[in-house]
Amino acid sequence: MYYPPEPFRIKVTEPIRLISREARETALKEAGYNLFALKAEDIFIDLLTDSGTGAMSQEQWAALMRGDESYAGARSFHRLKAAVEDIFGFKYFVPAHQGRAAENILAACLVKPAQYVPSNMHFDTTDANIRARGGRPANLVIDEAADPVNPHPFKGNVDIAKLKAFIAQHGRENIPFGMITVTNNAGGGQPVSMENLRAVADAYHEAGIPFFIDAARYAENCYFIQQREPGYRHRSVKDIAREMFALADGMCMSAKKDAIVNIGGLLCVNDEKLFQDIKNELILREGFPTYGGLAGRDLDAMAVGLYEGLDETYLSYRVAQTAYLAQRLNEAGIPTIQPPGGHGVYVNAGAVLPHIPQHEFPAQALAVELYREGGIRGVEIGSVMFAYPDPDTGQMVYPKLELLRLAIPRRTYTQSHLDYVVETLAKIKSRAAEVHGYKFTYAPELLRHFTARFEPLQQ
Ligand code: F0G
Repeated sequence: MYYPPEPFRIKVTEPIRLISREARETALKEAGYNLFALKAEDIFIDLLTDSGTGAMSQEQWAALMRGDESYAGARSFHRLKAAVEDIFGFKYFVPAHQGRAAENILAACLVKPAQYVPSNMHFDTTDANIRARGGRPANLVIDEAADPVNPHPFKGNVDIAKLKAFIAQHGRENIPFGMITVTNNAGGGQPVSMENLRAVADAYHEAGIPFFIDAARYAENCYFIQQREPGYRHRSVKDIAREMFALADGMCMSAKKDAIVNIGGLLCVNDEKLFQDIKNELILREGFPTYGGLAGRDLDAMAVGLYEGLDETYLSYRVAQTAYLAQRLNEAGIPTIQPPGGHGVYVNAGAVLPHIPQHEFPAQALAVELYREGGIRGVEIGSVMFAYPDPDTGQMVYPKLELLRLAIPRRTYTQSHLDYVVETLAKIKSRAAEVHGYKFTYAPELLRHFTARFEPLQQ
């Protein structure tokens, strides 16, 4: 099994510690069995998210010192602008403090009540930002995405027939824009092929619907295109990215992922009128358009990180590290979504704990158990995050898969950390029948996984 040597050495360290089993049990109780409510210092290995948790490089730390904190027109903004124009090629852009801020502004400018926004799969914040404006997000990913063992190389693809039927059914006037998420985080970090992106863009454009990319992990997606799609082997990842963004009318991006910064986001568009509306909304909610809710130093770290996220030596290490974790888990009999995605490994919790029904949250149960057993924090991507009452019938609609995502922060953990994760999950698997389900004691209406509280169903 191949584990790539890290293409960096460690210059600064941050201590981590494993607290006792009793202390972990107490921490779980106090947190209402919601891992978002744990204290970070009580966590040994934190795979909650790859968002904002990567290690910045020496060049990024140096760039922080160059930060120009002028309220308007800062040098930092112009350095970021040069990078954004070079990599993405859209006519206009604004920074935002993170991805969901960009989504909020886009939804505020475009979505009206009862309108539909189709995508392969919206991430939860995108979904919620559309719903918060009265809109209806729709997920039209290919059926293969719901089959965890199907090895399709581009399981993030949109089902083009479904998309065309959807547009025909609802009409251009009820679809303010269409989206696609690269890579498809909610479906296993799976990439979208360039062929599919082109067909999606054509379908939207033939109907006169603007097309936006959720570009949180675009560099990983473009690396997968280079590795897996015929005709792209000899193209640079940056070049592939240019081709991808040329298909779209705009994009929103959480820079906390592939731009390897702790905070930051981007919103890019080609339409001048929309850009004016975005700027007005941005000033109201985020800040002046040359800083968008960020410090000047954050803009500089992003300008450097955008290029580092495209570095092909780094990308091949990152994708191989993820594949290593998946393969070792599979060898220990723990099923994961195939093929492994870019930023994390998605354990098929429904298959590890088949005795727990969806309304008792099997993926949440596995997430809690992973912390209890080894002080490791993953995140539930199942019914806690995605089950919702159908707006027409009131019936609960459950997601097809119950997953536990082990997201891998960028340039942060090494092979021995991942080996420890495998050993811990293998121990849980050997006593899986003893693991029980959970019920809510509190759940908000939107984005409930962040603040919900639970109670175990039996002890
Ligand atoms: N889009 C995608 C595909 C995401 O994965 C995320 C965040 C966002 C948008 C929102 O960005 O956090 O900067 O506001 N995903 C994180 C995760 C939270 O853990 O997957 P944000």
